[in-house]
Amino acid sequence: MGMGCSVSATQLTLMSATHDDVPAGTTITQKRSRESTESGKRIIDERLKISENDRRLIARTWKGISRNMEQTGIDMFLKLFQNNFNLKNLFSEFRGLETAEAMRQSQALENHAMMVMCTLDDAICSLDDVDYVQEQLRNVGKSHRRFHGYVADNFLKIEEPFLESIKETIGAKFTPELEDSYRKTINFVLGNLAHGFSSGGEKERDISETSETAVD
Ligand code: HEM
Repeated sequence: MGMGCSVSATQLTLMSATHDDVPAGTTITQKRSRESTESGKRIIDERLKISENDRRLIARTWKGISRNMEQTGIDMFLKLFQNNFNLKNLFSEFRGLETAEAMRQSQALENHAMMVMCTLDDAICSLDDVDYVQEQLRNVGKSHRRFHGYVADNFLKIEEPFLESIKETIGAKFTPELEDSYRKTINFVLGNLAHGFSSGGEKERDISETSETAVD
C-alpha cells in the first residue's frame, strides 16, 4: 500500500480538472497566483462541501499526519474504543485485551489502523477526483459487510476520534478554521463508507434496526 501523497498523481488530476479559460501552457503555479481569495471560497464539487481554501489548508497540514500515520491511527482507534467498548469485539485478535496499553501493543490494531490511515490518505490526496474517491470509499465500506454485527453507523463514530487525534498530531496549528475544513472532509469520507456499506449490493440491511451487539 502506497504511503503519503503522490505529488505527481495530484498534479495530474489538478491538470485534468482545469476547465476554465487558462491559456494552454499556463502552469498550475501561474494559474494559482492569479486566483483571488474569493475564488478560494468556491466549493470544489457539490458532493464534497469543501472549498479550494479548505483543500489548501488540508493539503498543507496533512503532510504532518502522513509522517505520523501509525501513531495517529492507533490513537484514533483507542479513542473510538474508549467510548464504544463493544466495537473492539469485531477484532478477534484483540477482543480479549482489556487495557489501552495492551491494545496499543496489538499488531492487529496497528494493522487495521494503518489500513484506515492509508484509505484516508488516498482520499485526502485525491479530493480533485470526487468520482474516484467515492468509488474507493464505497468499496471499502462494502467490504465491512462481512463482519458479523458491523453496522454502517460504526463509520460515523470515527468523526470525533479522528478530529481529536489529528489535533494532537498537528498541535498549535490546528485552528478552528482548520478543524472545520477537516470536519467537512471526514464527514464526506465517513458518509461514503457508510453509504457503501448499506447500499448497492445483494443484501440491503436496515441499519436502523441492526444492533451493534448482534448475537450469533
Ligand atoms: C474510517 C473508517 C474505516 C476504514 C477506512 C477502514 C478500512 C479498512 C480496510 C481498508 C480494511 C482492509 C480491507 C478489507 O479487509 O476489506 C479493513 C478491514 C477491517 N476493518 Fe475497517 N475500516 C474502518 C473502520 C472500521 C471500524 C470502525 C471497525 C470496527 C470497529 C473496522 C473493522 C475492520 C475489521 C475487523 C477488518 C478486518 C481486519 C483484518 O482482516 O485483520 N473497520 N478496514
